[in-house]
Amino acid sequence: MASLDRREFLLGAAATVAAGTSASAETSKLLGRCPGYGAAATLWDLQADPRLGEAISKYCTQVVPVLELKWPMLRPDPHTFAFERADAILDFARANDLTMRGHTLAWYHDIPDWTKQIKDAKTAERTFVDHITTVVSYYKDKLTSWDVVNEPIPDNPRKVSDRRDSYWSSMLGERWIPLAFRTAAAADPFVKLAINEYDIESAKDSFIAKRAAFRNLIQDLLDQGVPLHAVGLQSHLHAELEIDKDGLAAFVAELRSWGLEVLVTELDVDDQKLPGDAAQRDAIVAKCVDDLLRAITSSGPLNSILTWGISDRYSWINGTFKRPDKQPNRPLPLDGSFQPKPFMDVIAKFAKAA
Ligand code: G3I
Repeated sequence: MASLDRREFLLGAAATVAAGTSASAETSKLLGRCPGYGAAATLWDLQADPRLGEAISKYCTQVVPVLELKWPMLRPDPHTFAFERADAILDFARANDLTMRGHTLAWYHDIPDWTKQIKDAKTAERTFVDHITTVVSYYKDKLTSWDVVNEPIPDNPRKVSDRRDSYWSSMLGERWIPLAFRTAAAADPFVKLAINEYDIESAKDSFIAKRAAFRNLIQDLLDQGVPLHAVGLQSHLHAELEIDKDGLAAFVAELRSWGLEVLVTELDVDDQKLPGDAAQRDAIVAKCVDDLLRAITSSGPLNSILTWGISDRYSWINGTFKRPDKQPNRPLPLDGSFQPKPFMDVIAKFAKAA
């Protein structure tokens, strides 16, 4: 084995597995942790199935809570900050020598009913600023980065200046986005602050339009001197859609030329429209991921690649993109039995190249 270098071995392994043989066990032994690779998890699933924690500890160097840092769980009522569940995931991370990132402080979705009852802008703003200040201060020096604003661009924008309507934009106007970043930076001047978006990676017109509007918003924020440090590409891919390799590569290169870091924050692949054969599906899914990561790394390394889950057993894709043949989806690097698939080989290839 000594003669083969790692990269050659991994590429060889990916090809072998794609051809449906059982190289995975050998790959996993050698793969070990992938620098900068991480996965999302809920406390429920971590507590319900120890294999999940073991897999994250085996392959990952970071973790992100799926639900526990969002308003509904953190803020059951106006007077409460329920940090316990997110703290439990932080304890898991620390116990396994993993870092943790935060998701998400300001989003059009997941706004508790008690918040939407607030009808005057002054109270809405105080609630918004108080939430971000309290949460970011509580996790000061504990997290690597925050998705400060999540999904600010509507699907199918008609013009580059389009922004997604939300309770926050209706109460605070367009300034809700700069306010979120300035408030987070005031609470923790050292944590990396990111803006996070989905459906901007593929070569479909609506995705290209969304990417153009996202670019316009980012440029606008930088022009205003807003403390924005990173851009999160969620990368919830749809396997039937070609990755816009050139468009995405150019977008990422431009973001980097503006001094921004690029993060892959929620990678998974909806395989709803793929043929039934599992090995064939896994090979197509791995190719999609390879196309994505190749485009993003064409102008520099990726220091952070997170998948939205790690095993097919625990994925929102199963409930959202059900397959017509009723077969379980295969959207993530590990299958339902926590065995690595070609997807994990691709992650390892790019993680180790960082
Ligand atoms: O726990 C409650 C349960 O008590 C209740 O019976 C059930 C029925 O309403 O809801 C359960 O909570 C659900 C929770 O997932 C746990 O399954 C929430 O309704 C549901 O909204 C929540 O969905 C999450 C969604 O974000 C909203 O927070 C998904 O799991 C999670 O995968 C998804 O993640 C988002 C990212 O944050 C942003 N990007 C897209 C990504 C996928 O949609």
